[in-house]
Amino acid sequence: MELTLTVNGRARRVQVEDRCTLLDCLRETLRLTGTRAGCEHGVCGTCTVLLDGEPVRSCLVLAAQAEGSAVTTIEGVAPAPGELSVVQDAFCEAHGMQCGYCTPGMVLTAEALLAGNPAPTREEIVEAISGNLCRCTGYGQIVEAVELAAVRLRSANTRPAAARMEPAK
Ligand code: FES
Ligand code: FES
Repeated sequence: MELTLTVNGRARRVQVEDRCTLLDCLRETLRLTGTRAGCEHGVCGTCTVLLDGEPVRSCLVLAAQAEGSAVTTIEGVAPAPGELSVVQDAFCEAHGMQCGYCTPGMVLTAEALLAGNPAPTREEIVEAISGNLCRCTGYGQIVEAVELAAVRLRSANTRPAAARMEPAK
């Protein structure tokens, strides 16, 4: 079957078998291999992508179900080639990854959380990432990374204190 979907802001037309999962469509057909294949049974969350802004396990979604929808993969979160999103940068700085296998799914889950809740509590962050399994970090640094990203995103539009104190001209 032929499908049209928007992937990372770009309209893509793909030819896939009826039973093709979104995960395989992204990795095999579109060669967006940043989306990782883990258990392929809906357990680990490694394959998480955003479908119309909501995190989904792409191994459990048929490509056909994404017809006409907007898909965001890890390749689509950075503002420009060679740059990192605020969340990606926070993961690096807070050491929120070791092997990095779970990281694309974690980052996308965090991006979705912070888009809807700019000031999540620690409990809300833990709850949000509870469906994404990591074998390496013990989660503490991942939670810290999301907290750091939240602070930075909230202050992104705040004028520096010195600028606020300047008298109006
Ligand atoms: S690969 Fe999809 S949930 Fe594990
Ligand atoms: S960093 Fe290795 S599985 Fe999470």
